[in-house]
Amino acid sequence: MRYASRTGNAASAATDCLVVPRAAAPGLAAAMGVADEVGLVLEGTRGKAGAVAKVFLKGRPSRLLIVGGERTDADADADAKLADFRRDAKAAATAIAALDVADATICVDDFDAGSGNTYWKTRTALAAVSHATYRFTPYKSDKPKAAELRRLGVLSRQRTQTRRAVDHAQALDEGLALAKDLGNQPPNVCNPTFLAREARRLTRGVDNATTTVLDERKMSELGMGAFLAVTHGTATPAKMIIVNYRGGSPGDQPVVLVGKGITFDTGGINIKASAGMDEMKWDMCGAASVLGAAKAAISAQLPINLIVMAAAAENMPGGRASRPSDIVTTMSGQTVEIMNTDAEGRLVLCDALTYALRFKPAAVVDIATLTGAQVVALGSHASALYANDDSLADALSSAGDTAGDRMWRMPLWDDYQSALDSAFADLKNVGSGRAAGSITAACFLSRFTKDYPWAHLDIAGSAYVGGKGSTGRPLPALFEYLIGAAS
Ligand code: BES
Ligand code: MN
Ligand code: ZN
Repeated sequence: MRYASRTGNAASAATDCLVVPRAAAPGLAAAMGVADEVGLVLEGTRGKAGAVAKVFLKGRPSRLLIVGGERTDADADADAKLADFRRDAKAAATAIAALDVADATICVDDFDAGSGNTYWKTRTALAAVSHATYRFTPYKSDKPKAAELRRLGVLSRQRTQTRRAVDHAQALDEGLALAKDLGNQPPNVCNPTFLAREARRLTRGVDNATTTVLDERKMSELGMGAFLAVTHGTATPAKMIIVNYRGGSPGDQPVVLVGKGITFDTGGINIKASAGMDEMKWDMCGAASVLGAAKAAISAQLPINLIVMAAAAENMPGGRASRPSDIVTTMSGQTVEIMNTDAEGRLVLCDALTYALRFKPAAVVDIATLTGAQVVALGSHASALYANDDSLADALSSAGDTAGDRMWRMPLWDDYQSALDSAFADLKNVGSGRAAGSITAACFLSRFTKDYPWAHLDIAGSAYVGGKGSTGRPLPALFEYLIGAAS
């Protein structure tokens, strides 16, 4: 799908389908000379947020999508108006995805979104279309029909805002397509080597970006004993994938994003129950989201320096697999007693987070489908946010609000740290019992991130919908954060 910014008069727009709010429909219909047809439809349908009425016209445009309705509550507060616009955008996007036309135009100026400006309205509408038109079909013999629509225009008098929003929306759409595709790939295809190849493809032919891949030998030289402990049971070699994008000035400290890339998590010797184990192909969604962030940043040529790292490995049982009670030495020098081989995400992440120090980062954010406990705490609506720095936490959280990709801050109090005390090593890789599982996992990571502003996103509940597919989250929030970091 190509997005475009358009200007001029809606009534004479060169498009197959016009998308307008209900309040603007009568005026537009009059200007187009189709007041009677539209009047009848308006009379026959109820207008409320999330409703869409379709009008068929002779000539071009041949379709009019009338979205939402009069607000019953005239002085609705700002949040309610933003929420109404989101609902309208989602409904319009679903209708647009099902259209039998090649080109459509959304008249954003006519929509009242309260405090949401043209830039925000455009981004929100296009994000909804991106979501509604995504399909993953490489393994289907009978391909489900792709959207007929090829081009989507945003019509507005605010030329600068729309152009910028369209560019950003296009870049995010590309990043999301990559992130979702990687997540949805089956684990017999999407292994660490596959991820490394995809990362290399991302920077091929790009002047200001490069990909480096550390193999197991290199990681062993670096002393990444925790990372390597996860990969002993599998025949598939692990990779630490690093994409370096230099869109900023040479002296600007980079933002570093680190993603958990377990391409399949059986649990290892602490093997998981069989029900739902298939979902563990999505245990690399953190890695997918950071590679998607690199794709989006490169595509938008954001003026920042960005490093993304994907810690990619497969967690399998086997004759050489790590055992519960094994003790390993991390790259930081701290020793870890592996009390549960199914708490593998933190083991690959801790060494990646230590490695991140060499980039002298402005901030480090790790993203991981880390714990089932996060799903219990927050379900799918919010990712869990942890941070050792309030301004980083606030920036991420408000980026998530703006992008409609929310996160909720959780505590990292010292009180929880003692759950990681080990009788034999510096710390163990799980807490005592099941209490506060997402928090104790974050506490584990916090032991390796003391030297820079750091945040951790536990996305176990938000990254995918079981049996359906990847959501691409939290890439919308990350991209918003990166846009903010650039200005
Ligand atoms: N990948 C899982 C977490 C997960 C669970 C993600 C459900 C998505 C849905 C992670 O590696 C894991 O197994 N965590 C354990 C930690 C426990 C052993 C302390 C868990 O959550 O049970
Ligand atoms: Mn696990
Ligand atoms: Zn896992």
